Amino acid sequence: MIITLASSKGGVGKSTITGCLAGVWAADGNTVHIVDLDNNRTVSRWFADAARRPDGITVSTPDPTGLTEHLADLAATTAPDLVLIDVAGTYERALTVAVARAHLTLIPAAPTEADIYEAARVARHITSVFQAFGREPLFRLLLNRVQPLASGAQLYATLEIVRLKLPRLKTRIHQRAAYEELGLSGLPPHFADLKRPTVAKAVEELDAVRADIEELLKSHQTEALEGVA
Ligand SMILES: Nc1ncnc2c1ncn2[C@@H]1O[C@H](COP(=O)(O)OP(=O)(O)OP(=O)(O)O)[C@@H](O)[C@H]1O
Ligand SMILES: [Mg+2]
Repeated sequence: MIITLASSKGGVGKSTITGCLAGVWAADGNTVHIVDLDNNRTVSRWFADAARRPDGITVSTPDPTGLTEHLADLAATTAPDLVLIDVAGTYERALTVAVARAHLTLIPAAPTEADIYEAARVARHITSVFQAFGREPLFRLLLNRVQPLASGAQLYATLEIVRLKLPRLKTRIHQRAAYEELGLSGLPPHFADLKRPTVAKAVEELDAVRADIEELLKSHQTEALEGVA
């Protein structure tokens, strides 16, 4: 299974969610491979220390122009249970290939006007890529950095998502220290100290995201767009 984390906007949480989801599946004994397409090499840095990196997680940093071949190589060699593609926050050819190859694309967005506007742009881009092949894409907005106390702005953002007819994953990811710490500790919540309330809540939330994804993929048998290279 291939999941792409895409957004044309920086800082929405692509790398954070990539690392966290890798932890969710790896904690269950799956092999997870992260393809880090961001020049900043964020996720690669977080998981650079092989001694600390959770078992089952590997990372590669291929040349984005060779993504198609890289994915084919992975499938033919290590064949990981899950491949997560963390795309750079710009419109590049790699974004198109990454969404075309994915069974599901997640578009993280905080409940702000700017993030939702960008999410809608990415959604249109994905739709147009698939339309060229007469196919329906499978993508979902994933609300991230939701504040624990609902505000008027957050309510407005939710209404805007409905108005723009942006399909979104049911579970929302809240603003939590456990997510912020991934960049410093290199440990996704599933491998962090579960006794800490912030970690326990993040784990619960991420398990719910996994359940949403599995339910979605069960009802949508998506296939990669083979024509895009
Ligand atoms: N749910 C969250 N709770 C707390 N902090 C978060 C959350 N999601 C993301 N962050 C923080 O927001 C910042 C940006 O997140 P991240 O690097 O994952 O975004 P990105 O979309 O990958 O950015 P870029 O486009 O620059 O690669 C990081 O400091 C991260 O720790
Ligand atoms: Mg990133």
